Amino acid sequence: MSITVTNIGELVTNEPGTGEGPLGVLRDAAVVIDGGTVAWTGPASRAPAADTSFDAAGRAVLPGFVDSHAHLVFAGERAEEFAARMSGRPYGAGGIRTTVARTRAASDDRLRANLRRLVDEMARQGTTTVECKSGYGLTVEQEERAVRIAAEVADEVTYLGAHVVPPEYGDDTDAYVDLVTTGMLSACAPHARWVDVFCEEGAFDAGQARAVLQAGVKAGLAPRVHANQLTQGPGVRLAVELDAASADHCTFLGDADVDALASSRTVATLLPGVEFSTRQPYPDARRLLDAGATVALATDCNPGSCFSSSMAFCIAVAVRDMRMTPAEAVWSATAGGAHALRRTDVGRLGPGARADVLLLDAPSHIHLAYRPGVPQVAAVWKGGRQVAP
Ligand code: NIG
Ligand code: FE
Repeated sequence: MSITVTNIGELVTNEPGTGEGPLGVLRDAAVVIDGGTVAWTGPASRAPAADTSFDAAGRAVLPGFVDSHAHLVFAGERAEEFAARMSGRPYGAGGIRTTVARTRAASDDRLRANLRRLVDEMARQGTTTVECKSGYGLTVEQEERAVRIAAEVADEVTYLGAHVVPPEYGDDTDAYVDLVTTGMLSACAPHARWVDVFCEEGAFDAGQARAVLQAGVKAGLAPRVHANQLTQGPGVRLAVELDAASADHCTFLGDADVDALASSRTVATLLPGVEFSTRQPYPDARRLLDAGATVALATDCNPGSCFSSSMAFCIAVAVRDMRMTPAEAVWSATAGGAHALRRTDVGRLGPGARADVLLLDAPSHIHLAYRPGVPQVAAVWKGGRQVAP
């Protein structure tokens, strides 16, 4: 069954060498979808015939958002902690343990239902690729169940046993790293593609983080790192050293960190919802882009540091407060996320791409930043199947 989406006012292809500007914009365009894949893009007047057609009525069409960083397997929430932060209390990794306790006590069905609710919420907002981490279980059984449930629902699964040291280990971080790199890893690796670590004061230092990532690589997982979120620590340079797909947060960077990212293929994934929700300074996207680094935007959706699933919100903040142009921010939320997940089938709309299509109720991608907080998703297809409204 093939379908032509026709009468597209502005088609964001993200295809280098196609159309205008960094987004490869085509005007008065059409997209032909065949069997869940994009078969053709080009001028509407030249679109080949398909079984059915859909009239975009002059509106903008983009690749679905690629949210390359989220923590969605959890129970409970931490609204009171957010309220306390807004009246002056700083964010610290300690709150993670609150969610660990709630998650451990929850049934599989409860975790599954919460995860599905959040992924559906994301789809309604235009997100068609979701990465999901474990990290609120922190025992072999709990982490195994988290990655197993994540794999039922999310597109990309990340083993984050090294999120924080669970309370039963006290200060014995090395003993916990032993578990994360042995029994917990072998239980989780079959369900995951990625290994991640929170490299930060109060979580895991460079040596411990390196051990976690190298063990993950040995078990067939590819690395990504929570890096430089709260301090100008060693995370970014470790990510580059290990050719991680992504260094995430990048809030506190020195010149050596920026240079390292710019001369590597490690993507700098910025999570502006976190700085919004923790009152931290925003990462300096302009500095990274001007240095030549590849930048992705993602939500980090989780009950602590940012309980937003909205990629449009991230785009608006990145444009307003991180000096990204609307085109750069939209690229980072689509193609950038695909780079951060080393995927070539999503984050673009060209022949062979998965048919993940976001129809905006607006004439241009600029409206995502220009009209912050306004629902502008008209329809969403994932793999050619309509998932919203
Ligand atoms: O990416 N930094 C570590 N982990 C999450 C926060 C998780 C939480 O606060 O529950 C993050 O911000
Ligand atoms: Fe995170």
